[in-house]
Amino acid sequence: MLPCQRHLFDIPDDVAYLNCAYMSPLMKPVIEAGGAGLARKAHPWELTPDKFFTGSDEFRATAAQLLDCTADCIAIVPSASYGMATAARNLPVRAGQTILVLDEQFPSNYYSWQRLAEKNGASLKIVPWPEDHDWTAAVLNHLTAEVAIAALPHVQWTSGGLLDLVHIGEACRKLGAALALDLTQSLGALPFSARDVQPDFAVAANYKWLMGPYTTGLLYVAPRWHAGRPLEENWIQRANARDFTSLILYTPSYDEGARRFDMGERSNFALLPAATRAMKQLLEWQVTQISETAGAFNRQLATAAAELCFSSPPVELRATHYLCLRREAGIPRELPEILARQKVFVSVRGSSVRVAPHVYNSAADAERLIACLRRTASVAG
Ligand SMILES: Cc1ncc(COP(=O)(O)O)c(C=O)c1O
Repeated sequence: MLPCQRHLFDIPDDVAYLNCAYMSPLMKPVIEAGGAGLARKAHPWELTPDKFFTGSDEFRATAAQLLDCTADCIAIVPSASYGMATAARNLPVRAGQTILVLDEQFPSNYYSWQRLAEKNGASLKIVPWPEDHDWTAAVLNHLTAEVAIAALPHVQWTSGGLLDLVHIGEACRKLGAALALDLTQSLGALPFSARDVQPDFAVAANYKWLMGPYTTGLLYVAPRWHAGRPLEENWIQRANARDFTSLILYTPSYDEGARRFDMGERSNFALLPAATRAMKQLLEWQVTQISETAGAFNRQLATAAAELCFSSPPVELRATHYLCLRREAGIPRELPEILARQKVFVSVRGSSVRVAPHVYNSAADAERLIACLRRTASVAG
């Protein structure tokens, strides 16, 4: 368990920020790294050609540690949707086959598959919401012979339901189905190993649990797809990019590994150093410790909320860092206003309150949320 790390953030004492699943706050050292990165363009004469590669390679090497893969498997992308579009451009699907997605899956991991299915005479197969909260069993039941691609998250984003990706990966390989993952709501807060899961593609936007700036993201590409087709063609993906004098000696060859899938202007001098700095801090804390710390916080919260008739999925079937509290009678209309007045920040969606803590939260934050739930429970009567 980690001690509270609030001192690294700029979070006023009267704010209980429990919404990392929406957007993490940037750490002070991350802001410094971003500021220093932005300032480099004040002196463009110091931005020598090698700098277009060193920062990107540091980002790749750091991301690779979080994914348990080699740096060669990481491409730099701006968003989860960009990564998924790349996966959809490369993964084959034939007429009559299906692409498996979850009920209420996040749109960035839905639309690319819908388009791919339409184009090829295939269809989407939607895993229905499991009444028993067991998303893994539900996925395994729907992984049948006609599934060409399973496009899944590690954590279902509206319930916090956890998918056993090692087990699902194994089942996909047995069937010959490809596996494309959206790790945006998990990477950095939940241990993940590309070596164990063996996905074809896996993407994560950096601005949530990776604690980086908006518009940065990473894409894992398995070695078997390294000869694939990128979404866009740009100069820096090509094999001759390091020699700025030979860029117009056009070449059909790409740079090594997953670098061909990098977005244009991927050497983002302002944002990449910030994203890398944030990931380095996560590695220093260790993902298992982040997961345990957020998990202990959420377990206590779930117990206190249960006394107020808010239920949550069983602890073994939900991600430790991600707690969705539901109330059968519905969420009282007054709750958003009470939360706003008390400066308690969570997501209230439909019949659920989503709580997403991180290492900057203290027991006092949990008490303040519970006090708000107690007030609404008594208002609702
Ligand atoms: C599960 C999930 N995936 C992806 C994203 C972000 O997608 P994108 O980077 O395409 O904006 C979110 C944002 O809320 C999300 O919850």
